Amino acid sequence: MKRANLISLALALGAGCGNPIADDQIEFWGDELPNVPASEHHRPGQPCVLCHGVYGGAAPEMVLGGTIFADQYSFTPVEGAEVVVYDAVGDVYTMTSNCIGNFFMEKEGNLPQFPLAVEVRCPTYDSAGNKLESTKIRSMNSWISRDGSCATCHSLRGTQVDSTGWIFCNDPTEIQSNPYPAVPSSCPGEPPKEAQ
Ligand code: HEC
Ligand code: HEC
Repeated sequence: MKRANLISLALALGAGCGNPIADDQIEFWGDELPNVPASEHHRPGQPCVLCHGVYGGAAPEMVLGGTIFADQYSFTPVEGAEVVVYDAVGDVYTMTSNCIGNFFMEKEGNLPQFPLAVEVRCPTYDSAGNKLESTKIRSMNSWISRDGSCATCHSLRGTQVDSTGWIFCNDPTEIQSNPYPAVPSSCPGEPPKEAQ
């Protein structure tokens, strides 16, 4: 490619001028909630890397990010789930969900090489709400080829044709007796209030 073409391509790709699809997607997710600061506790269930990526420009820049829920119905996030990522060169990375179910990996240091395999080690509780020693493993059968936002696919949005629903810990048979505790009042985040 000639130099002049490269320069015009670079201009066309420049931040803020020319990705209407990404702009629309970012706008779709709306403003921050009034009571939740922009922080690791904001926007549970939303595609973190859409905004925290090269185009979105929100700091910190992330390679992976998402949210773990108890199920697809109750809007209860799960704290303390370990998200274990196996990358293409055999390295293993672990992230842990916070009190609003969010986890993420910043784009710094050694980065996982796509495609990635992923499993979630969910904490378990007895029916009285006491945390147990054992974990429950949920693994994704397919590979994540390039999208670092789990919620690009794991969403409840009706418009997302290939949506698989949120990433969840309860087996479908356990939904009636969901053992996961509600978000503690000390947690700065708020669970989603509607399907997203
Ligand atoms: C719709 C866009 C958007 C989405 C989606 C989003 N964020 Fe953010 N986030 C922001 C903006 C904007 C800021 C403020 C920082 C800035 O302006 O650069 C921010 C800030 C943060 C910060 C930094 C707080 C600080 O103290 O510096 C963290 C951590 C964070 N977000 C985590 C997440 C996680 C985890 C997710 C996914 C569950 C997520 N964000 C989803 C836009 C977003
Ligand atoms: C490109 C779309 C896509 C992305 C991105 C994606 N997933 Fe998935 N995920 C799927 C699909 C489709 C399934 C169901 C089929 C399968 O297991 O492959 C699934 C299944 C899963 C399951 C198993 C669900 C069950 O039935 O127990 C887990 C756990 C999971 N994903 C975690 C994650 C995590 C964590 C991330 C982000 C780091 C992520 N996924 C990103 C598409 C995606």
